[in-house]
Amino acid sequence: MQHHNPGAFPDGFLWGASTSAYQVEGAWNEDGKGPSVIDKAAFHDGITDFTVTSDHYHRFREDIALLAEMGLKTYRFSIAWSRLYPQGDGELNPAGVAFYQQLIDEICRHGIEPLVTLYHFDLPWALQQDGGWSNRRTVAAFERFAVTCFEQFGQQVKYWLTINEQNMMILKGEVIGTLPPGTADVQKTLYQQNHHMMLAQAKAMIACHQRLPHARIGPAPNISCVYAASARPEDVLAADNFSAIRNWLYLDLAVHGRYNNVVWSFLQQRGWLPDIAPDDMATIAAGKPDFIAFNYYASATVSADMPEVARGELNSKQQADQQMAGIDRSVYVGCNNPHLQQNQFGWYIDPVGFRITAREIYARYALPLIVTENGLGAFDTLEAGNKVYDDYRIAYLRAHIEQLRLAVADGVELFGYCPWSAIDLVSTHQGISKRYGFVYVNRDEHDLKDLARYRKKSFFWYQQLIASNGATLDAQVEY
Ligand code: BG6
Repeated sequence: MQHHNPGAFPDGFLWGASTSAYQVEGAWNEDGKGPSVIDKAAFHDGITDFTVTSDHYHRFREDIALLAEMGLKTYRFSIAWSRLYPQGDGELNPAGVAFYQQLIDEICRHGIEPLVTLYHFDLPWALQQDGGWSNRRTVAAFERFAVTCFEQFGQQVKYWLTINEQNMMILKGEVIGTLPPGTADVQKTLYQQNHHMMLAQAKAMIACHQRLPHARIGPAPNISCVYAASARPEDVLAADNFSAIRNWLYLDLAVHGRYNNVVWSFLQQRGWLPDIAPDDMATIAAGKPDFIAFNYYASATVSADMPEVARGELNSKQQADQQMAGIDRSVYVGCNNPHLQQNQFGWYIDPVGFRITAREIYARYALPLIVTENGLGAFDTLEAGNKVYDDYRIAYLRAHIEQLRLAVADGVELFGYCPWSAIDLVSTHQGISKRYGFVYVNRDEHDLKDLARYRKKSFFWYQQLIASNGATLDAQVEY
């Protein structure tokens, strides 16, 4: 459908930007913080670890002032579970509570709406050693942690996100660092963990509604539309399979409280069905989200496993990447898409897919949507005068926001957009050189330099865009 005059973004639209605790804070073991699975992950050979990252823990006032200068209406960040509960459960760490209280005070002082992710990949290491999400004890620990956050910060925080990209942890946990190396019976384990996370999420949503009647809470999966590699019905079926496994399993459970039928039969066939305790499904059904947050970077393309179609299938490096489809022969085969450009890291750039994704989610669940991640990872260069001319990032954001505007014109109820990332931070598995921020952080993989903050060209472009509520999408910016 074409819109010749797509109109504006709604009044009060939450223009924002996102970070996560372990990727931006640093101070990994300060003031009583316990280690998380990320601190113990062994995948950062040759690139930076997560000990210092962008040092936001010590520089948050300067960072929030920059975000306020950019004009952000909301700022999405996460709370490090092991800063509050160093052992994941047990004793609460007052210094951890104090840090987030100061951070939230600072955000609110600047008139920015805090948008808080409870859990962004960084499961406390003590819980992991005790079985992590395979152990039902982690469900109770998460509920307790969530309740603590609601009690401590609920007066100032209206918008909550439960679990960031649960689907990526289940589909690509080894890439992100959340799946312990050497896990036996990987798939069966992961789908059991998935069930426990669903239960934990539902309990957090129930607790939030009981304690904070004015708050709003929702899940934050990574959702992307899935294309069939051809119009061959078998390929279309494969795309439907992968979409159910990648996307709808998670949202059907969160919103409708039931397992997606296609995925259920897939799990049954493979012997990967989770153990479900008698009250679990009733609890999952009772936890109701108020909105759906979703992260979107790239679309996926799959075919059926037919040699003549599957020639364009992804290589093993591509399959390992969290944004790409994998291959599960007879169910779906991840393919290249000749119609799309790739970024410097091989991710497909697909703004139209963004619109399709937003429309699909809204059509299925009819809940308000907010985008909590979308952005371009790139090797930025710091030029003379501490300038970063990231016109490629502006082009990516412009094209994606334009498609969002069209999605709004299509009738999608969208109340915010938070690109990744507010400032430069350490990528999940590709170091600090893969930058996403509007603000450059002066360090590299092995040299912390002075960690100074410099406004990139995209900073001023986004500032102008926010001030006009999206009207200056095509405008140039002085830099
Ligand atoms: C999402 C995560 O998967 O994508 C973020 O929620 C992550 O934590 C972002 O950083 C971009 O991925 P990457 O691998 O480029 O850092």
